[in-house]
Amino acid sequence: MACRAAGHSDKVRGMPFTQTVLEKLYRSPGEFVSRAEAPEEALAELAGLGYVIETHPHWGVRLLQSPDRLMAEDLQARLRTRVIGREVLVFEETASTNDVVAQLAQADRAEGTVVFAESQTRGRGRHGRSWVSPRGKGLWFSVLLRPTFPISRLTVAAAVAVVRTVGSSARIKWPNDVMWDGKKLAGILTEARGNVAILGVGLNVNGKSEDYPAIATSLEMATGKAQDRVGLAVRLLAEIEDYYRKARDDFNSVSREWANHCTTLGKQLIVTMGPRRLEGQAYALDENGALILRRDNGQTERILGADVTVEHG
Ligand code: BTN
Repeated sequence: MACRAAGHSDKVRGMPFTQTVLEKLYRSPGEFVSRAEAPEEALAELAGLGYVIETHPHWGVRLLQSPDRLMAEDLQARLRTRVIGREVLVFEETASTNDVVAQLAQADRAEGTVVFAESQTRGRGRHGRSWVSPRGKGLWFSVLLRPTFPISRLTVAAAVAVVRTVGSSARIKWPNDVMWDGKKLAGILTEARGNVAILGVGLNVNGKSEDYPAIATSLEMATGKAQDRVGLAVRLLAEIEDYYRKARDDFNSVSREWANHCTTLGKQLIVTMGPRRLEGQAYALDENGALILRRDNGQTERILGADVTVEHG
C-alpha cells in the first residue's frame, strides 16, 4: 500500500500502553488520575507527541490539551463505539482512503475498520471529481461496512450523521452534499465492492478560503472559530455508528430526519442519468433512500444518487 502510517512508535502499536493511559485520562475530563495509573514512560511518550499533561504531587496527572493530530491510539482511547472504529488506521498521506479500505476489504478486514488520512493526493468525489484534501485541515476518512441493506440508505444515514455532528445550520443537498450557507462543507462517497460498502466522508474543518475550491467552505470559515478536529472525528464516528444501526432497523426515522435537514425536497430538479434528462419535483425518499421525482407529466421515477447529476432548476 503506497501510504505512510502516522502515529506512535512500533513499540506501542498492537497493544498500546499509551492508549490505556489515554483512556483513563479521557474517561474523566479535567480530573486527576493517580500516578499509579500513568507510568512515567507513557507520560514521556505522550508529552513527546504533543499532549500537555499537568502533574500534581498529590493528586496525580490530568490532561490539559491534546495535539491537533489524528492518531489511532488517541481515537480509540476516546471512542465508545462497538463497531465503527474497532480498528483505526491513520496515514500521513495516501491517494484515497476509499482505495485503502477497498484493499483492506479484499484482505477480509473487520467491519467498522476506519482509515483516516491527514492528506490525500487523489481524493475523489462522485462522478470522478476530485476532492481537495489539504493536510491537517479536515477529516478525510473511509469506513469498511457490510450492510444488510442497500447502500443508498447508507449515504442518507451518513449525511444525517454529519449534520448531527456539525450542527443543524448545515443543510443536506441531495444526494450527498452537506452545505453551509450555500457552500459545500462535506461530501460523502459510498462505493460497493461485492458485499462490502465503503463509506468515504470528507469534512472541511479548519481550512481558510485559500485551502479549498471557491464552492467550498469549512467549519472554521462558517463559524469563525477553529475547531477541535479530533474531537469532531470521535463525535462523527459515534453518530455514524448510531445512524448505521438506524439505517438497518428504522430507516423511516432516518428518512424523516434527513427530510428536516434537506433543501432539495419540494424543489424542481433537472436530473441527468446517462443519456436521459428528466425534469420534475423532488418529492420524497423511498424506503431505500432513492429520491422519488414527480415528473411534470405526472409519472414518478426513482432516482439513485450514484447515477445522476442534479441541477436545481
Ligand atoms: C462528493 O462530494 O462527491 C464526495 C466526496 C467524498 C470525499 C471523501 S474524502 C475521504 C474519502 N476518500 C476519497 O477519495 N473520497 C472520500
